[in-house]
Order: sequence, then structure tokens, then C-alpha cells
Amino acid sequence: MKPRPASSAKLPPLLPRVPPAVAALLLQGAAFALVLAGVNLTGVRPAPLTFALLCGLTAAIFSRLAGLARWWLLIQLVFVPALVLMLTLDIPPGFFLAAFLVMLAVYWSTFKTQVPLYLSSNKVWHELEGLLPAAQAGKTLRFMDLGCGLGGVLTHLAAARPDGHYSGVESAPLPALASWLRTRRQRNCAVYWGSIWDDALPACHLAQYDVVFAYLSPVPMERLWHKARAEMRPGSVFISSTFAVPDQQPDQTLSVDDLHHSTLLVWKM
Ligand SMILES: C[S@@+](CC[C@H](N)C(=O)[O-])C[C@H]1O[C@@H](n2cnc3c(N)ncnc32)[C@H](O)[C@@H]1O
Repeated sequence: MKPRPASSAKLPPLLPRVPPAVAALLLQGAAFALVLAGVNLTGVRPAPLTFALLCGLTAAIFSRLAGLARWWLLIQLVFVPALVLMLTLDIPPGFFLAAFLVMLAVYWSTFKTQVPLYLSSNKVWHELEGLLPAAQAGKTLRFMDLGCGLGGVLTHLAAARPDGHYSGVESAPLPALASWLRTRRQRNCAVYWGSIWDDALPACHLAQYDVVFAYLSPVPMERLWHKARAEMRPGSVFISSTFAVPDQQPDQTLSVDDLHHSTLLVWKM
């Protein structure tokens, strides 16, 4: 899934300190309480699906009023009706538990970070190759992918430019494991399970890298820029795929002819 543009990812004005996913859940609760109160007051006994549709509609209206991004309104509208329909299918509860655990392992703290897993294209990997500094005898190029997903960027660059060392940090357990498995035979790769904001993780100190790459979302870009400015060495390169840094013009912009119309934004620090 591709993330939304910056404008739709803003926090809702009525619940400014609450992550959108938590706000959506609170609004679902409020909608349920209101519809239930209405049913009790009027004495009308709607069918479960009608009740669910009323809850969904009310939640979507509340979400609109609270300023949630537009794509949340559709989720809010169909959430409770989908629950009711799923219950009619009589699926064993273990299936839902298993599905939940897999989603948790893949998306982990996305509800907080607002950075889900989606992957750079092959064409982005090739463009990145062209942005690496030229090989220098006796010097190892050091590259970091912040939020390395399934490790595609690392494996590609490690094979294309064996003179470098390629590190990745990934917070979600299943992608981190996949990255680690994928790179474990490449002696010039290292994958760390953790958060890019964790100062106790030495790999997250950006001063050691010649090139730092990030493909995240609009949400962390300002904070990441401050980290990059504070830690990266003069002359090193910071590359963001697709997501701009507020008020910071890149030194170079590369449009990539892939499915997502990715853009590589490049800053010389
Ligand atoms: C859009 S994906 C990019 C994957 C990979 N870099 C690529 O280009 O294919 C972003 C990844 O960053 C991870 N992520 C989000 N916040 C993070 C954090 N604070 N620390 C480490 N990884 C994070 C997500 O779990 C996700 O796998």
C-alpha cells in the first residue's frame, strides 16, 4: 500500500495528540454508544446488520468532523458491518488470532509511527546505485537504509557495489527477520532489529555513513531531517524516496519511472 500525501496524514484537529488509528477506535466507540442509546430510547429493534450500518455511518460522520483523513472515513463506514458479516461466516476464532499475529509481526507499531511496510521498486534500487559515491581504493563506502523492510535495497546494492558495506535498521519483527535471512550470506550487509530513534543502538548513529537512505512516510520526515543534520558528516549524502522534508529544498531530485512514480530527493550534507 502506498502512503497518503502529507496533507491527509495530519493528526485530527479535534484529537491533536492521539494517533489517527487510536482516534478512529475512540470514534467507533462513541458512534456505537450513540446508536445504542438511540435504539434504547426509541425502542426500535434493528437487525444486526442495520445496527452495524448505523454505527458505521455515525463513525464516518464523527471522523469527518474530527478531521481524520478522507480514507479513514471509508474504513470507519465499513468496519462494524464487516465485523457483523464475518461473524455470519462462522470462521474459527483461531483464524482471526493467527491473522492478527501475522499483521502485528509485519506492521508492529505502524499505528504509532504511521510508517507502514511498502517496498521500493527495482528501478529505485538501480537509481540509488547511480547515486552512490564512486569507489575509492582502500575505502569502504558505508550505506544505511533506515527502515529496511524486506532488505531489497541492501541486497541489491551489496551485489552491485561490493566495495561498500550496507546496513539496515527495521523495527517490525517479521520484516527484520526476512531482511536478516536475506542478507545473512552477504558478508558486506548487516541488519539490526530496532527503531531508528533508539540512541542505544550504535547502528542508528548516522555519522558513520556516507549515504543514508529513507523511504518512510511524510510523518517522521521533519524529525529525521533534524537527526540527519545533527549527526551526518559534511559531504555525506541523505536520500529520501518520495517524501519531502518540510521547508528543505533538495540539492537534486530524480524522478523514477516506476509504478509509484517515485522521486528520489537528495541532499548533500
Ligand atoms: C516504506 S517501508 C521501506 C522499506 C525499504 N526501505 C524499501 O525501500 O523497500 C518503511 C519501513 O520502515 C519501517 N519503520 C517504520 N518506522 C520505523 C522506525 N522507527 N525504526 C525502524 N524501522 C521503521 C517499517 O516497518 C517499514 O518496514
